[in-house]
Amino acid sequence: MRSKDRRPGSRPQDRDAKARPGAKPKGNARAAGNRPGEQRRSDGAETKAAFRKSASRETPRMADAEAALPARTLKTRSGERPTERVPVILETPGAGDFHLIDSGNQLKLEQYGDVRIVRPEGQALWTPSLAPHVWEKVDAVFTGDTDEEGTGRWRFPLNALGETWPLNLLDVDFHGRFTSFRHVGVFPEQIVHWSWMKNEIEKAGRPLKVLNLFGYTGVASLVAARAGAEVTHVDASKKAIGWGRENQQLSRLDRAPIRWICEDAMKFIQREERRGSRYDIILTDPPKFGRGPNGEVWHLFDHLPVMLDICRELLSKEARGLVLTAYSIRASFYSIHELMREIMRGAGGVVESGELVIRETGLSGDERGRALSTSLFSRWVPK
Ligand SMILES: C[S@@+](CC[C@H](N)C(=O)[O-])C[C@H]1O[C@@H](n2cnc3c(N)ncnc32)[C@H](O)[C@@H]1O
Repeated sequence: MRSKDRRPGSRPQDRDAKARPGAKPKGNARAAGNRPGEQRRSDGAETKAAFRKSASRETPRMADAEAALPARTLKTRSGERPTERVPVILETPGAGDFHLIDSGNQLKLEQYGDVRIVRPEGQALWTPSLAPHVWEKVDAVFTGDTDEEGTGRWRFPLNALGETWPLNLLDVDFHGRFTSFRHVGVFPEQIVHWSWMKNEIEKAGRPLKVLNLFGYTGVASLVAARAGAEVTHVDASKKAIGWGRENQQLSRLDRAPIRWICEDAMKFIQREERRGSRYDIILTDPPKFGRGPNGEVWHLFDHLPVMLDICRELLSKEARGLVLTAYSIRASFYSIHELMREIMRGAGGVVESGELVIRETGLSGDERGRALSTSLFSRWVPK
């Protein structure tokens, strides 16, 4: 298996990580909007004031180092590792308003509702199938890929467009959004996980509890809520939480039980563990590098094992799954697969791991073109 070191359309390695939502910005106005720095007090959190007070006694470097260390260490697990299914390639041909039309020359041509977009795509090493004039007649082109600071620019060759436009996926309405990080407010390759989750929730016969960690603009949370789950959505970015709430209204799910929590994911789950909270489904989509609202540092390679270990403790007795996706890391899916199996020792069930891919479906949306790899995943399910 080839190693994956790039998120779709991203730049290599560290620069790439900084270009993701929630990744460490480097001091420019637009990127700062994405830095989750201005947190409101979240439910039951230890007071931020107390945290700031203790943090202020440290030099910034020490405070960072302390924040980087998870307070919790790995538990020793015994019992058999869950059986395994590998490699699993979870493929989407698109759904609702999204499909991948074509790709090539390290670019991708995508349809998001009425908006046709060209974005960088490092994995598309081949030549496009469609003629250049098709690629030229698009609504938006991301042109910011050479900018060190991570701010991107969009060009609108046909008509000037606003920052957002309406989209629908899996019965959920939300805003597509031209972000300065080249993302558009949704990662459509996740449709496969969301469809699986929707199905689990609908057939459960009781309201499942779903925890969506690093939940971004909340599309997964809305899919879960629409299907009847009680949802806890955690993200460090106040802006992303705001977009999530906006999407909740757009989807007319205002009354649905969704808790929007702007907090560092590790802090939140550690507190949930102390409280004895339980969830039936946990989705976690951590970036390679990120920061919590109070400067807490998230490094995937340092913190993922303990994060998964805590997530295991948070799974209910009748849990339906623990789903991890990993973008932008230089690793094989086996690295997260074997970690998941170790963490889930003694739990029975199956760990299935592999890649999420999007299939090109041409201009019509019905053809079968090439498969574009987007991320690694590993998921534990009880059977
Ligand atoms: C790529 S997004 C997740 C995408 C989402 N799951 C989806 O499929 O639409 C990563 C998110 O992690 C958030 N984040 C980064 N560091 C964090 C931290 N320490 N705690 C909580 N959220 C964090 C960012 O704000 C960003 O919204």
